[in-house]
Amino acid sequence: MISDPSTKYRPFPPVHLPQRQWPGRVLTEAPIWCSVDLRDGNQALAEPMNIGQKLEMFDALVRCGFKQIEVGFPAASNTEFKFMRQLIESGRIPHDVTIQVLVQAREDLIERTVESLRGARKAIIHLYNSTSPAQRRVVFGLEKSQIIEIARRGTQWIKDRLPKLPGTEVIFQYSPESFSATEVEFSLEICEAVMDVWQPTPQAPLILNLPDTVEVAMPNVYADQIEWFCSHLKHRDCAIISLHTHNDRGTGVAATELGLLAGAQRVEGTLFGNGERTGNLDIVTVAMNLYMHGIAPGLDFSDLNALSKIYERCTGMTVPPRQPYAGELVFTAFSGSHQDAIKKGLSEWADGKGRSHWDVPYLTIDPADLGRQYREVIRVNSQSGKGGVAYLLESEFGISLPKDMQREFGPLANDEVDRLGREVSAEELRQMFWREYVERSVPFELTRFHAEGSEGRFRCTAAVTREGTPFELSGEGNGPIAAFVHALTKTAASAQPLSASFEVAYYCQHALGTGSEASAIAYIQLTLADGRTRWGAGVDTHIELASIKAVLSALNRALLAAR
Ligand code: KIV
Ligand code: ZN
Repeated sequence: MISDPSTKYRPFPPVHLPQRQWPGRVLTEAPIWCSVDLRDGNQALAEPMNIGQKLEMFDALVRCGFKQIEVGFPAASNTEFKFMRQLIESGRIPHDVTIQVLVQAREDLIERTVESLRGARKAIIHLYNSTSPAQRRVVFGLEKSQIIEIARRGTQWIKDRLPKLPGTEVIFQYSPESFSATEVEFSLEICEAVMDVWQPTPQAPLILNLPDTVEVAMPNVYADQIEWFCSHLKHRDCAIISLHTHNDRGTGVAATELGLLAGAQRVEGTLFGNGERTGNLDIVTVAMNLYMHGIAPGLDFSDLNALSKIYERCTGMTVPPRQPYAGELVFTAFSGSHQDAIKKGLSEWADGKGRSHWDVPYLTIDPADLGRQYREVIRVNSQSGKGGVAYLLESEFGISLPKDMQREFGPLANDEVDRLGREVSAEELRQMFWREYVERSVPFELTRFHAEGSEGRFRCTAAVTREGTPFELSGEGNGPIAAFVHALTKTAASAQPLSASFEVAYYCQHALGTGSEASAIAYIQLTLADGRTRWGAGVDTHIELASIKAVLSALNRALLAAR
């Protein structure tokens, strides 16, 4: 890089538009969408789609609800031409879907394009030529009037050939390519010249597509260009103004949204922003941005994972993990504080406590609306806190840890995750929990337990092993747990209590699973003679046994910690 970029690059001239209206407007409805995946997206692939892939992509776009689809550049190659013919002849184009084809202002190419459309019910013929000063100077070496002549001639050649398409409703689209880098006055002049030739009407308007072919300025400048154009265009009601942004400065979505505020009615773009260089506009993002403001986008992305797979299969591209709405990680929180807020927000939403509109911290929309799972939302790595660990155990396995136990297990799990140095799955967390609490059998292991009694007086008999040595014990208490604690701590037949004294400070239990797999899990917190506390957990098909095992789990953990 150079130290003074102003010696090599210049600022972009602003549009003079002191009365601009777009900053004060809000979007209230979806535009007409046109997918250009099969043309602009396809032409940017190292290995363009074959016919099978194009057909799969076309069907997927139709399922999403696109009513206008630019299917290719039929005069560019045999594959493109054959694809067009196959689409039309196989009757694959639904009645409410209009196909669009791109062509340059060359008579031979226009002839071939028209030929490719024979038998189509409805088609948009999209003519373009470049208009920017750099293109005029470097590529064509032509004056403005000659550039206008190219556009007029191309339009006339298409018009002349309409009789060759009987039964086809043709809509004409013109793009002054590199519109955003072209003087607005010249863009207007050339578009009006094209309109003079085509003679559109309010009932049969043409489409003027104003491309941000290469993003050269901030999105507000593009919006100014669009508003300036819309407010100066003669016969505005005879034209549909369309946007076609690319993403060179990373603001293709913003440029489109501001361009819509500025008066455009139609948007061209691709799924996930595939396209030349940094890509075309990502239509999914603009549509979902409308959706998150309560505006029906008219496109259905209810199964975005499936759509991403089709896209990846057909284009060979990948959807980056942080791609808005579609990326693998966009609904995932690793950070403990984010997880905690999301967990609380989701549970408020699930309770439905009078909240009619989505307002969950860190989640702009409900992941379920895109076919995403709540289970993807909270994932655990070394940055996560106890909340995420507890959430996963509960949401995946129904293990609902008492709050205070979360404070004990969270840091233990975190240390383990930190040691592993990677994300851990819910199953791995369950295994950690099992190892830490449920599978504790040293020094004590329960072999048998029986309790009977009523009205607060229970007797129990039990068999345990301590470091492998068997002991028979009995005790009394106001319940089975109290009787077992008594049995462990009173002087036994061996003339020694099996354990130093301790008390049960907290106890709770709940069912785990349903049906024949059903078991119960009990959580117990013990307070030891020295005031320390320890949690334990036990699992069994009998709730009473689960609680007795939980006592031994806590006791074993306390005794091992004291060693
Ligand atoms: O980016 C562009 O200008 C184009 C035109 C052909 C519309 O793709
Ligand atoms: Zn483009």
